[in-house]
Amino acid sequence: MPGKTCNVVVLLSGSGSNLQALIDSSQGADSPLRVGAVISNRADAYGLERARAAGIDTAVLEHTGFAGREAFDAALMALIDGFNPDLVVLAGFMRILSGGFVRHYQGRLLNIHPSLLPKYKGLHTHQRALEAGDTEHGCSVHFVTEELDGGPLVVQAVVPVAATDTAQTLAQRVHLQEHQIYPLAVRWFAEGRLCLGEHGALLDGQPLPASGHLIRS
Ligand code: GRF
Repeated sequence: MPGKTCNVVVLLSGSGSNLQALIDSSQGADSPLRVGAVISNRADAYGLERARAAGIDTAVLEHTGFAGREAFDAALMALIDGFNPDLVVLAGFMRILSGGFVRHYQGRLLNIHPSLLPKYKGLHTHQRALEAGDTEHGCSVHFVTEELDGGPLVVQAVVPVAATDTAQTLAQRVHLQEHQIYPLAVRWFAEGRLCLGEHGALLDGQPLPASGHLIRS
């Protein structure tokens, strides 16, 4: 998207520390992106306060008021599209999205997941990595497809697991890496360097490896 500021809409359900990292990284006058709006399915999400503090538009759409997933997702799409996003960023949005939603934002929908995908899709990823005795854990940014936590990988950060780690200490270190790789991936997209090709994610026109761009700390 060279020359044009990339308008990013963020969806979240909770604390929003990844939103904060995105806001912080998009502050400069020369930033290729701006967070145009933050939408939550929970009115009490702390991420909404972070957005308000940064002067960003917010909206709440509670899923409890809808008959089913399709109806909620249709209303959510209408709300999102009202902000004219170039990119939609899932940052701890605790909803499974319908196929229609995912297809509508194909190639402009990113997610972050706290594991080295394809390992540990779903919940409790840190505990599962510890129980498996993994020596490495981490986080992944990927394009969203209809397979849950399964779309083409963009970037992964690898975090070594210490013998003394608990799920909490590991989660903290993984979170720090999330705050590095999500702004990086979003910036690549905003600069027009990252896109979803027919066979996977492309960076600067070149296919990324199946693991995405790998960062080791
Ligand atoms: C992160 O662990 C992210 O990987 C997952 O949801 C969590 C959101 O954390 N998808 P925060 O709300 O950004 O602090």
